[in-house]
Amino acid sequence: MTEGLGALAGRRIVVGVSGSIAAYKAVTLVRMLAERGAVVDVAMTAAAGRFVGRLTFESLTHRPVLDDVFELDADQQIAHIELAEAADAIVLAPATANLLGELASGLVGDAVTAIACASRAPVIVAPAMDAGMWTHPATQRNVATLREFGYLIVEPEVGELASGLTGIGRLAEPASIIEAVERLFARAGDLEGLHVVVSAGGTREPLDPVRFIGNRSSGKMGAALAEAARDRGAAVTLIAGSMSVSPPRGVTVVDATTAQAMREAVLRAAPNADILVMAAAVADFAPARASQHKIKRSGENLQIELVPNPDIVAEVGEMPDDVRPFIIGFAAESDDLEANAAAKLRDKGLDLIVGNVVGGPFDAIGSDENKVTVFAAEGAITDWPMLPKRQVAERLWDLIGDRYGQMRPQADATAPSGRRRRRQ
Ligand code: C5P
Repeated sequence: MTEGLGALAGRRIVVGVSGSIAAYKAVTLVRMLAERGAVVDVAMTAAAGRFVGRLTFESLTHRPVLDDVFELDADQQIAHIELAEAADAIVLAPATANLLGELASGLVGDAVTAIACASRAPVIVAPAMDAGMWTHPATQRNVATLREFGYLIVEPEVGELASGLTGIGRLAEPASIIEAVERLFARAGDLEGLHVVVSAGGTREPLDPVRFIGNRSSGKMGAALAEAARDRGAAVTLIAGSMSVSPPRGVTVVDATTAQAMREAVLRAAPNADILVMAAAVADFAPARASQHKIKRSGENLQIELVPNPDIVAEVGEMPDDVRPFIIGFAAESDDLEANAAAKLRDKGLDLIVGNVVGGPFDAIGSDENKVTVFAAEGAITDWPMLPKRQVAERLWDLIGDRYGQMRPQADATAPSGRRRRRQ
């Protein structure tokens, strides 16, 4: 695969091997990474050494294997820190239940965990274990924690296990793991030079000094989008409503808790943005008047008059072409997703709309996962499964990047950086 060769050539990749029978597959993985031009360093846990000898890896990589957290390298530097800093990516394969537990708890007793913990490089984790271990709540909790760290999990597959039983837990095939690594690099920096504005979270419309009308939006999807855009090299402004997660580091955060505040922030940022992703759940109505004093219980019914909020994204949709960014809206619908999303795309003047179903057996609100369908003017353009929100964000940026690139005039596509004009 030519694209893959390009994507991995010259990349420094640390492969961390832990003690599963699947460690033999790490040999193939390391060979395939090296064949694609990557500079591969292998770190092993003591248990991994019971399955595969370090000489096997050293023969393939022509580099020393690190299996001792106390080891110094040839320049008397701390070897695991040197590797952690040099790595462009870290691939933990196979990752045992024990390794997942250590990583999730920050226990760094060996070379593999020490490198993963010390490094700022992206970490790809390919677990392998018995089916019972994989489905155990402790393992699943640890995997969820690693996802929160931003680690990418290459899910184990169903098949025959070391025990002879069949179930989930087999290490993903080396080709699938390589694909995940290539994907990481193929897209690295693809938003370089672009200013991306993402709104996230729910708005709160005050009723009185202590009460508000709000919604259950957690801001997780918007935060994942902002983080993924940052990792791809964009300058990111996050317009944050009420969020249950911290905004990612390295992005400019503008707090905007009410729909009015969000409108001002979005309208201010949009003309300087290349891409606007309106992931926030903006309240459609606000109380006509917020009481200056806490509303007292009176025993009577309380009537609250609600007035419609301005449709922020529709206002951006009406901006003149020379200042209007590429716009992606969200549509959370309880039914008839396709028709409602299509109508919103048209009425609000959006380029793309991300639709998801809320309520019912699966509810994306507040969840770490989401199942979305993206609609363009021609209809539904994706068929994605349920995925962790960070992976949804990555796929969305792949798509947005492609669409945005297509509509950008040819001459501008070569512009080194900065804002590009569109739609001339
Ligand atoms: O109409 P609805 O609220 O379902 O539309 C959802 C999309 O419109 C989201 O992208 C949301 O951020 C945006 N929106 C907005 N201003 C509003 C309401 C929604 O920008 N007042």
